[in-house]
Amino acid sequence: SNFFALIPAAGSGSRMGNELPKQYLSLAGKPMIYHALRRLCGSDRLRGVIVVLAPDDSEWARHDWSEFSDKLVVIHCGGGTRAQSVLNGLEAVRRTSSIADADWVLVHDAARPCLSERQLDKLMDELADDEVGGLLAVPVADTLKRSDNSSRVERTESRESLWQAQTPQMFRYKLLVEALSMTGGTVMTDDAGAVEALGLHPKLVLSDARNLKVTYPQDMALAELILGNSD
Ligand code: CTP
Ligand code: MG
Repeated sequence: SNFFALIPAAGSGSRMGNELPKQYLSLAGKPMIYHALRRLCGSDRLRGVIVVLAPDDSEWARHDWSEFSDKLVVIHCGGGTRAQSVLNGLEAVRRTSSIADADWVLVHDAARPCLSERQLDKLMDELADDEVGGLLAVPVADTLKRSDNSSRVERTESRESLWQAQTPQMFRYKLLVEALSMTGGTVMTDDAGAVEALGLHPKLVLSDARNLKVTYPQDMALAELILGNSD
């Protein structure tokens, strides 16, 4: 089976508080999504990279993406949620590309620009023979507090066995479509959550904090620092 990547990039970046969606904000001199594209398109093991944009996206076309043209499939079919954007992309690509039920799809956020080659390879190495699939993740490092409704500590939660989910999240095409098709209504902020809802147990592949997600304005400087220190 082949490996494909899919980048959902149809969000509005509301927590960044910028008019321009964060996937296009300038990071180390490039639109943020460029960095994820470079990493994924640069992997010999990935046959194609699918980018899912909002239907009314007008920013993508302002940039030159020709260096990635041998692998890139760009579809303007984003939905109202991340899960819907991923599902729309998977269904659209079925009609246009030669992707098979058993092929692996690595779903990776446009907002995670610092994914390293090592992390990407480790994910594929550890899951290539897996029954279910899985995701990059890191054990929680901070102490966790549960609050009441007035920002007072109700209790301290044990962080034992708790992990922070990252992307890429890697599942076989058919399972991912099946899982995401069933999520309707429930809030799923990642792909593994949809697979878990089928009663399956995705594998956690140890990553590290450098593969951060840019969510708030203050995340930009850290992402640039990490990019500057990597290969
Ligand atoms: N995403 C998407 N379609 C949506 C919502 C999100 O394709 N309807 C994508 C984003 O573009 C991003 C990834 O999913 O690459 C992770 O989502 P998140 O970090 O939450 O980005 P946004 O939803 O854009 O940001 P916010 O939640 O702050 O509005
Ligand atoms: Mg969001």
